[in-house]
Amino acid sequence: MRPTTTPERSAGPRLRVVADADALHEAAAAVFVRCAARAQAEGRDFVVALSGGSTPRGLYRLLARDPWRARVDWSRVVVCQGDERAVPADHADSNFRMAREALLDHVPVAPERVLRIETEHGASEAAARYERSLRAWFRTSEGAPSEEPGRGFDLVLLGLGDDGHTASLFPNSPTLARRDVWVADTDAPTAGPRRITLTYPLLDAAAARLLLVEGARKREALRATLSDARAPMRWPVQGIAMGRGDFDVLADAAAW
Ligand code: 6PG
Repeated sequence: MRPTTTPERSAGPRLRVVADADALHEAAAAVFVRCAARAQAEGRDFVVALSGGSTPRGLYRLLARDPWRARVDWSRVVVCQGDERAVPADHADSNFRMAREALLDHVPVAPERVLRIETEHGASEAAARYERSLRAWFRTSEGAPSEEPGRGFDLVLLGLGDDGHTASLFPNSPTLARRDVWVADTDAPTAGPRRITLTYPLLDAAAARLLLVEGARKREALRATLSDARAPMRWPVQGIAMGRGDFDVLADAAAW
């Protein structure tokens, strides 16, 4: 799974290493704006799944203020989540709270165009509700996502844990095999709340995926993930179907 650097749609992830976290956020904002413009130029809403954790906070803050804020038509953006911890939406560990504080409170996305994982219902029910809302939005009541443009995410933002997980798809988790659902509730190996996560079908079907990796503690996981040695149960990013849509990896120098 050697990263490619060719500009066209590649069969594998395109790795780009930038100097530092600020450069990472700027480069990621450019991808976000490019993907939004592509969808909206086709007359569609731009439907994006936000990642959680700490890495994307700087990107969200950048998008929340000019000049980047003015480069997106937020009235035609639909914001979804890639995964969530099973905690209240105002909890310090909530991915939604982080995205709301860093981005959603500062851009004019209508509330009905924010598809939140409703953790107040408990992990299992929240997963079922979120899947229903995604299926309704993508007009696919059952089965695999459609390949039609606009029937899947235009962009999925992803992070990488130092153990190699992405979204809440953890190494060796039975959730990696769940292709019968678009959203699953799952345990996190580390102590802590259960998680709700997109499963591979919607990640595979996305028009673009952007994996953001920052910091030296991610270096081993990133190099293993992008190596030719395929072990998708150990390195879940490798389980994302290649060849359909774009797959960009942005890393700061410390992470590579
Ligand atoms: C989460 C995230 C998770 C995250 C990675 C990286 O809920 O924790 O969605 O997949 O992207 O764990 O987290 P950091 O950015 O905090 O290193």
